Amino acid sequence: MKLIAKTFHGLEGVLAEELEGIGAKEVKAVNRAVEFEGDKEILYKANLQLRTAIRILLPIHHFTAKNDQELYDEVKKFDWSTIMSVHETLAIDPVVFSEIFTHSQYVALKMKDAIVDQFREKEGKRPSVDVENPSIRLVIHLAKEKATISLDSSGDSLHKRGYRTGHHKAPLNEVLAAGMVMLSGWDKKMPLIDPMCGSGTILMEAVMLAKNYPPGLHKKSFGFMGWKDYDKKLWNKVVDEAKEKITHPRLRIFGSDANIKAIDVARESALQFRFNRDISFSVTSFERLEPVYPKGMIIMNPPYGERLMKDKDIVDFYRMIGNQLKQTFIGYDAWVITSDKEALKNVGLKPLQKLKLFNGGLECGFHKFNIYDGTMKKIIKFR
Ligand SMILES: C[S@@+](CC[C@H](N)C(=O)[O-])C[C@H]1O[C@@H](n2cnc3c(N)ncnc32)[C@H](O)[C@@H]1O
Repeated sequence: MKLIAKTFHGLEGVLAEELEGIGAKEVKAVNRAVEFEGDKEILYKANLQLRTAIRILLPIHHFTAKNDQELYDEVKKFDWSTIMSVHETLAIDPVVFSEIFTHSQYVALKMKDAIVDQFREKEGKRPSVDVENPSIRLVIHLAKEKATISLDSSGDSLHKRGYRTGHHKAPLNEVLAAGMVMLSGWDKKMPLIDPMCGSGTILMEAVMLAKNYPPGLHKKSFGFMGWKDYDKKLWNKVVDEAKEKITHPRLRIFGSDANIKAIDVARESALQFRFNRDISFSVTSFERLEPVYPKGMIIMNPPYGERLMKDKDIVDFYRMIGNQLKQTFIGYDAWVITSDKEALKNVGLKPLQKLKLFNGGLECGFHKFNIYDGTMKKIIKFR
């Protein structure tokens, strides 16, 4: 069957690689999604194992509609009793890019009307809507006149790994953090530092990656568990096989932050998944941080002007980051994600690689700096 894994802009390539890794066929990266072919086992594996997918969709009905009535009629042409019974509940998520259909919630309403009317006409009863916890979650994707209705096999978004207990301001989305670690080229062995780790998302995703730990292992329910063809035995087999592949390498992963509360939250997350021995945490400001190992990788998500540093001097702050990298982290590769590309220039290093990612709607640069022995001398020479 043809399936679609949704992701964020910039992560399509890593997601495609992940899909190939679990045995998906005809993998094709498109805009913020990857299309692929797979059977039920692949669908279950995708939900359990993909780090950079937000949800996995199974398209079931394609049509074109130029107005509300056509939309209603086309939805009604599909035999909904093949998908659900009248006793089950449904929810509809609209994704609309169209000049004809300008209100996405109205599209969802029309679609819901068509489905419930079909049941009422055939069976005299109608299924109800449950936005929070439906038996069947549907997605309607409408681009101009072209509509695709899909079954959402994931249910709750796959970024919810289940390790977050406390709250921290501006945490990265787990899918984005996993994507950053995978894009960075971290080899899962070299020391990894997040010196402004906040709630520790980058570190948690790095540990899971290094251990081959399935990101969906703690998720209690998936959309496909409410489907008519749910195969519990197959799901248990997929989970057992994935658990057997978890490894326990010795990791050198370090997280620090100037804020003690952030470190408390990060520690609590690590405890949730019993990763407390895999990450060394410390409450230290970056200005005073010293590396334990002479070589390694830094991945960091410093505060952005828009989000966290409105009143502070962002220029000085990014200058401090640059100085600290150049003076203390020689031998390291450093990746920095920020929406403030102007501020990033104050790091004073030439990026070796520049990637475009989105963090909660903010366009960000994810830049790689190579801090080698000559970096400092070169900078002094050119001043
Ligand atoms: C955008 S948040 C990082 C969020 C994190 N990636 C997460 O997923 O939760 C930026 C973090 O930088 C920390 N921070 C700000 N200035 C710092 C400094 N000088 N040294 C170390 N940490 C600092 C803040 O306390 C905050 O937790």
